[in-house]
Amino acid sequence: MIATSACIVLSGSALAFDFQATTPCAAEVVEAMAPFWSADWGNPSSRQHRLGLSASAAVNVARRQLSEAVGVSPERLVFTSGATEANNLALLGHARALGSGHLISVATEHHAVLDPLQQLQREGFSVTLLTPGPDGLISPEQLEAAITPETRLVSVMAANNEIGVLQPLEQLGTICRRHCITLHSDGAQAFGTLPLNPDALGVDLLSLSAHKLYGPKGIGALVLREDIAIEPLQWGGGQEAGLRAGTLPTALIVGFAAAARLALQEQDQRNSHLQHLRDQLWEGLQQRLPGVLLNGALQPRLPHNLNISLPGVNGSRLHRALRPHLACSSGSACSNGAPSHVLQAIGRSRAEAEASLRLSLGRETTTDDVDQAITAITDAAAAAGFLSGR
Ligand SMILES: Cc1ncc(COP(=O)(O)O)c(C=O)c1O
Repeated sequence: MIATSACIVLSGSALAFDFQATTPCAAEVVEAMAPFWSADWGNPSSRQHRLGLSASAAVNVARRQLSEAVGVSPERLVFTSGATEANNLALLGHARALGSGHLISVATEHHAVLDPLQQLQREGFSVTLLTPGPDGLISPEQLEAAITPETRLVSVMAANNEIGVLQPLEQLGTICRRHCITLHSDGAQAFGTLPLNPDALGVDLLSLSAHKLYGPKGIGALVLREDIAIEPLQWGGGQEAGLRAGTLPTALIVGFAAAARLALQEQDQRNSHLQHLRDQLWEGLQQRLPGVLLNGALQPRLPHNLNISLPGVNGSRLHRALRPHLACSSGSACSNGAPSHVLQAIGRSRAEAEASLRLSLGRETTTDDVDQAITAITDAAAAAGFLSGR
């Protein structure tokens, strides 16, 4: 999907509250990548000379560091261009290797999961999408009830990109294991914030991305269970054990590993800082805008996410009024400007979905930024016709 300017609001002086769309590269990440753009420019597959060997060694170190971050052995990691490609490789690659059957996912997944599933439906697979409750969560009982003797693959994201809620992956993993069904999880929003060990969670295929955790755009990975059947989606030089042909981008891979290391080092401190600010934001908004709706459960939720709807407000007026002051979004960066399918799936009306704000905080967000955001949102809500207490 192509990100459009309709939902992402960016301007020079606007405060950034859209860190779930992407994050800036951390200084440590830029520094780690620097040699691999020019001085150390070799192809990691060129093993006949020093330049290639040096790039290959850097990729090996990064692969080991990333695999340690998710608690698996390095050969279980396949580099991709991001979580979109990892999801496509997991879903299309695994389902096609199985040949036929029934697939289960959730209506609130990212389009990078929903669209490959639609493609598999066109190829003859049957697909069930579970509808979460108003809290955005699915229950283990719901999954159990949807499983049929033909079910081969379940895909449930770790953390939602719009409402930030955390699905009960470990319980879902136990159910899938009991039925010998593959579990895929899109971990793009969770990696770096939550512990994400696929074996502990019962996840067979885990998609990761670097640019949500202060790493570079254009790199991600699929973590595979050892013996899993996957058909590649592209063919060429046989890189990544034949599962993902194409020259490896050394600088991006090194940056991905540096970002993951930094995220793990800072995890507790980052999470408590973000949760504190997010709670300040939510309390301030409730005080200034009585009647404001929280979308999705407050817990369990990513510490840096808040998603609200302002009932009775015209969504386009709200976003227009906010644009000069706050860079935030109404839904995913990949939703093509359409009202959020996530919010509508959890029971919000189209108008409430249009009058929603996904507010996501970053590691450098301050208390002052949060106060300014509360004022900007309150003013924009008034300009867009919000009547308190409705
Ligand atoms: C949950 C989720 N899955 C997949 C993606 C796509 O990831 P990438 O940009 O790395 O392809 C995103 C990011 O927009 C996301 O939030």
